[in-house]
Amino acid sequence: MAEPRPRVWVSQPLYADIEARLDEWFEVTRTPRITDHAPDAIAAALADADGALVTLNDRIGAAEVAGAKRLCAVANVGVGYNNLDVDALAARGIVATNTPGVLTETTADFGFALMMAAARRITEAEHWLRAGRWQGWGFHQLLGAEIHGSTLGILGMGRIGQGIARRARGFGMRVLYHNRNRLPEAVERDCAAAWLEREALFAEADHLVLVLPYTPANHHIVDAAALARMKPTATLTSIARGGLIDEDALADALQAGRLAAAGLDVFEGEPAVNPRLLACRNVVLTPHIASASLPTRRAMVSLAVDNLVAAMGFGPDAGRPPS
Ligand code: DGY
Repeated sequence: MAEPRPRVWVSQPLYADIEARLDEWFEVTRTPRITDHAPDAIAAALADADGALVTLNDRIGAAEVAGAKRLCAVANVGVGYNNLDVDALAARGIVATNTPGVLTETTADFGFALMMAAARRITEAEHWLRAGRWQGWGFHQLLGAEIHGSTLGILGMGRIGQGIARRARGFGMRVLYHNRNRLPEAVERDCAAAWLEREALFAEADHLVLVLPYTPANHHIVDAAALARMKPTATLTSIARGGLIDEDALADALQAGRLAAAGLDVFEGEPAVNPRLLACRNVVLTPHIASASLPTRRAMVSLAVDNLVAAMGFGPDAGRPPS
């Protein structure tokens, strides 16, 4: 009798044509509609699964995998993976994968756009116009901050940070960055970027962009003290994770004019947004869409499917000796 095929749970409907590749190897259980799975529903879905394809909405930790005796791989559709407790998964011998690389340029485009929108007050100006407040061209209306010739600070100079740095070159910006580890000289040269201590980066940047992964160790890395180091004319943009910023401290700084503007694509309690930020006119708020283009989202799913197939020991290269 043929061996039963391994079972895979797909937590959200993604792209049917790409997901179909899983059917070649596995018995697939799909989720017909976008679903906000409760923790016990995730635990139930994983209980008899050998593998899972999940998104950032699905939080998987020790409790969710406690009864998942056969689970050997979880493929996350996303480069960030703070929805997974990787230590809890590793302790159970479960491989976790993510999708770096395929969303770099799209996300860098968006980070740059969000920074520019905050600096040049684009959404604020649109709201003002739509509210019927524009009475005629005004010399002093809605003056923003310069992008060209200004200093860009990048906190977290991975692939996406480097993509933003390359875009900044075209705008004649000076680029400074901070990473725990300095990049090799050749990469710094390619990005025309110079390393700085974190405190100095906060103080020097005209526009600071956060692109670093979120971990418990950098929770609220942008707190009241960090914001106090920034220039009152500066902007802060985040396309990373909400937990990096103390949002109440940011609202205080924006309301008091101690920071000119902010652009936020990510929030600590998303999809809930801190009401104090909603009340600030000088912050551009977007619903976690930095990687949201159709080709990029398809590429993310495709990579996650390949990752899952490989992590479960299937696929074209399975069983071949390493070349
Ligand atoms: C990621 O991949 O981590 C983004 O936040 C969502 O695309």
